[in-house]
Amino acid sequence: MTTILITGANRGIGLGLARHAAERGYTVIGTARNPENAGELKAVASRVEQLHTDSVDSVNALAEKLRGEPIDVLINNAGIFPHECDDINDLDLDALQRVIQTNTLGPIMLTRALIPNLEQSKRKTSVSITSNLGSITDASKGQMGFLGYRTSKAALNMANATMAHQLKPKGINCVVIHPGWVQTDMGGQAAPLTPDDSTRSIMDTIDGLSMSDTGRFVDYQGKELPW
Ligand SMILES: NC(=O)c1ccc[n+]([C@@H]2O[C@H](COP(=O)([O-])OP(=O)(O)OC[C@H]3O[C@@H](n4cnc5c(N)ncnc54)[C@H](OP(=O)(O)O)[C@@H]3O)[C@@H](O)[C@H]2O)c1
Repeated sequence: MTTILITGANRGIGLGLARHAAERGYTVIGTARNPENAGELKAVASRVEQLHTDSVDSVNALAEKLRGEPIDVLINNAGIFPHECDDINDLDLDALQRVIQTNTLGPIMLTRALIPNLEQSKRKTSVSITSNLGSITDASKGQMGFLGYRTSKAALNMANATMAHQLKPKGINCVVIHPGWVQTDMGGQAAPLTPDDSTRSIMDTIDGLSMSDTGRFVDYQGKELPW
């Protein structure tokens, strides 16, 4: 049995990942803030657990519940994109703290809490869903904006690079994957990719990972992205 845990799996990219993982024979543990409203996830996942990724107590409670269970692939997918912290000239500090708490600290806290579960598994893989908007190289070229979101994902990328180094002795593979611009509540309907196409490619990329990929920043098709 290969077990995958996906956060924010009740809609959008997380739900697509859960569907493709289940089709591929993974045992899927999907997390949702409100499991009672996660009907589509319940139809494909082996289990639905409650998780608020911005709460240390919630992360620790889930880790306690999963104690002793191997997790082959962890996907830190849950994320937010609040626009109240897009511009330094009109900055809502609460929104800035919330986006960093959810998009950066959440994946760090959960990965740390599940290190024993990853170590016990065969695949030992931690994936965080990042964004090309977290690329400092690209940001300096294009139209700027989205201060809070960009900062949260750039910091997530650095956290991943550091965790990759620090968890290498335990054989844990840490990769950040940009899903493309995807038609979800976050991405909007103008996005070129459907959740189904993006998440099928992400699962292909994840299934092709080996320890030589640890620390990489790639897109849904496995293509290297600039830091
Ligand atoms: N869509 C894109 O074009 C795009 C592009 C680049 C990167 N991404 C990244 O891809 C990931 C998924 O995005 P999406 O487009 O699928 O977004 P989405 O449709 O808005 O779904 C976000 C998911 O994250 C969950 N979530 C948000 N805050 C949470 C918290 N504090 N605790 C637990 N769960 C929480 C949501 O739960 P609720 O249903 O309870 O709100 C929902 O399940 C995010 O990390 C995002 O930054 C998306």
